[in-house]
Amino acid sequence: MKLRRLSLALASACAFSVSSFAGEVEVLHWWTSGGEAKSAAELKKLIQAKGHTWKDFAVAGGGGDNAMTVLKTRVVSGNPPTAAQVKGPAIQEWGSEGVLANLDDVAKAEKWDSLLPPVVANVMKYQGHYVAVPVNVHRVNWMWVNPEVFKKAGAKVPTTWAEFDEAATKIEKAGMIAIAHGGQPWQDNTVFESVALGVGGADYYNKAFVKLDPKAIDSPTTIKAFDTLRMVRKHMDKDMPGRDWNLATKMVINGQAGMQFMGDWAKGEFSAAGKVAGKDYLCLAAPGTDKAFTFNIDSFIVFAQKNKDQKTTNDFASAVLSDGFQEVFNQNKGSVPVRLGHDMSKFDDCAKKSAADFVSTNKAGGLVPSFAHQMAQPSAVQGAVQDVVTQFMNSSMSSKDAVAKLIAAAAKK
Ligand code: BGC
Repeated sequence: MKLRRLSLALASACAFSVSSFAGEVEVLHWWTSGGEAKSAAELKKLIQAKGHTWKDFAVAGGGGDNAMTVLKTRVVSGNPPTAAQVKGPAIQEWGSEGVLANLDDVAKAEKWDSLLPPVVANVMKYQGHYVAVPVNVHRVNWMWVNPEVFKKAGAKVPTTWAEFDEAATKIEKAGMIAIAHGGQPWQDNTVFESVALGVGGADYYNKAFVKLDPKAIDSPTTIKAFDTLRMVRKHMDKDMPGRDWNLATKMVINGQAGMQFMGDWAKGEFSAAGKVAGKDYLCLAAPGTDKAFTFNIDSFIVFAQKNKDQKTTNDFASAVLSDGFQEVFNQNKGSVPVRLGHDMSKFDDCAKKSAADFVSTNKAGGLVPSFAHQMAQPSAVQGAVQDVVTQFMNSSMSSKDAVAKLIAAAAKK
């Protein structure tokens, strides 16, 4: 009895000290480009406004491969950050390690279940409990266009892959680079994903790259997707190896190149450079993909802390989903708010289109998870698929051999 009273007294003392405690929020992310850093700075401001200290844990490297390696080391050494940018099926993988904190209290108090689209809320839960908070919705199947380059080259903005080949050839004949690309595995995979979707459509994409159905992968459609990727590859410049994605975006911004295939974080770079959507640059769905939407939802998993400071973690999660943060963060980041029914009136035309297409493709069946951005496959499969695509891009591998390798990669599930 005595013991019970003591532990109750201790528990309330702890509760008191935690609620009056200004915590430290350490967040691992890979937002280091101009537009990304501006967006991350908004999160820092908000956390500081709540009285907490912000400890930045940025690991450079688009697509997050480097960040994931660093995160594993930190967690294994028993010293996890407050939160880390982890998305898609990897949330489940981390959940099964037993190292995550539980956000159910804040989720219940703030009605996340009705605030978030079910397709998003489910991914944030491990065994029915919230262990992650979503930040935004990015669309990956975009093509960024510099209209001046097209004008100079007398080229038409393409809506099919055949038209793309024609336009790219004209841009090159006029002495400019057709596609700005960075030869890094995740960027190669980003391009391949849009090509496969454009060539095969959302149903094929789902079967082949989400369900990993061997019949769908071993098909003339996948051969055609690789043939098309070969054609696209031909229009990339010789300096592409290792180039960061934001430097490729810069080439489109300054008129050195005509197009880039990249998710709408590229728009963050256009905005940071003061460029206006619809005038200085165009955002169009990659050829053949206008009825589809490859979604990429950034989210943060939260870790159980040694000092049991759940309040700081809850404050962080609540800040991420707050209306004001969603508005300003997403305008800088190029994405759209993840909260349902957010007022889009202050967003640019690309974001308005993205928000509308997210809803319409969800109804009509064209909404698919981005495999290049860790939304569709377990990490082992994702890495193996990425390797095949990069090998294909950097060798003379035949489409048939690439399909065989893809089947082997999918079997890693
Ligand atoms: C992330 C984006 C990020 C991009 C480039 C994507 O995987 O979802 O938030 O801007 O990589 O680093």
